[in-house]
Amino acid sequence: IPSGHRRLLDAHRYAAEFYRHLLLNTVEGEVALEYLRGRGFTKEIIDKFGIGWSLGSRESLVTLLRRKGFSEEEMAEAGLAILPENGNGAFDRFRNRVMFPLLDMNGKTVGFSGRVIEKTGNEPKYLNSPESPIFNKSEILYNYHNARLAARKSGNVILFEGFMDVISADAAGIQSGVALMGTSMSDKHLSMLGRVTNEVIICTDGDNAGWEAARRFSRMFPSNRLDAKVAIVPEGMDPDDYLKKYGGEAFRETIIGQPHTLLSFSMMYAKRDKNLKNENDLLQYIHEVLEELAGKTTPVERDLYLKQLAEETGVSVEALTAQFRKSEARHT
Ligand code: GTP
Ligand code: MN
Ligand code: MN
Ligand code: MN
Ligand code: MN
Repeated sequence: IPSGHRRLLDAHRYAAEFYRHLLLNTVEGEVALEYLRGRGFTKEIIDKFGIGWSLGSRESLVTLLRRKGFSEEEMAEAGLAILPENGNGAFDRFRNRVMFPLLDMNGKTVGFSGRVIEKTGNEPKYLNSPESPIFNKSEILYNYHNARLAARKSGNVILFEGFMDVISADAAGIQSGVALMGTSMSDKHLSMLGRVTNEVIICTDGDNAGWEAARRFSRMFPSNRLDAKVAIVPEGMDPDDYLKKYGGEAFRETIIGQPHTLLSFSMMYAKRDKNLKNENDLLQYIHEVLEELAGKTTPVERDLYLKQLAEETGVSVEALTAQFRKSEARHT
């Protein structure tokens, strides 16, 4: 580890301890503790995920880090403080936020995500650390450090959209969940997943953004190396909502336990914005599904999905097969 990295890691360690102290032991932290309790966070979960609270004042962390011997440039490089160009002193990046440490593969804190308790204006709901020498969004999977051990037992990793879903699942005994910090999945993420499992269950929110995310993620899985499936959460809920409403057992059995294959998911995706009673939508649906099937199905899968498509659309298997051959010819 370069010595500069060591300094940034140390600063993060102090910051995480400080935020945690503020949450658990101060009057200022009570409102955050109440918020977390209201969302079902136990002390155990707060401890396990190292959750904390940042004060509203301009330079509380900055003051602490200064006392520990850090320069303002170091604080800014770590992303923990903002150093204005105009010569005014450094100030805390995170203020009045519930603080979630982001850990690297070795379990070291390399960044934070801070959530506002109540949105009052157009501030972001979550504020993340900026990229730094130790924090690379494309190399971080939330909870990877814990999930890789759990994945050995469960045989899969669950890829959630939000890290709140990861925490909620963990609290319900499902410990192999991870989440991206943001929306794009990198090759590095894929190789991290491939190192600890050969089955990834994508489980995003039951809204448009969630379906789009699942679509993007699913397209990144090379079918031969990593087996990916998609678990669907009911419309209007996210995994956290579902877990809170129906509990861990229902989630395990009904959602995670019955994931869809990528092809089945892509059919559901194609159907989502269509009314199959409308002729144009119906034709478009058939077109999209045949494109999806072309070039990547085994004969058995082809038979299976063409039959399903025939049932859904009322078009004969023969006609679909003929059309399919044309789509396929374009793909080879
Ligand atoms: P809660 O509302 O606390 O339950 O959060 P959530 O986990 O349901 O998050 P949501 O579905 O709104 O977003 C999923 C993920 O997108 C989050 O975990 C964040 O990583 C990211 N995200 C959401 N809102 C913001 C934001 O305002 N800024 C940034 N940078 N990321 C966000
Ligand atoms: Mn969402
Ligand atoms: Mn289903
Ligand atoms: Mn969500
Ligand atoms: Mn949520």
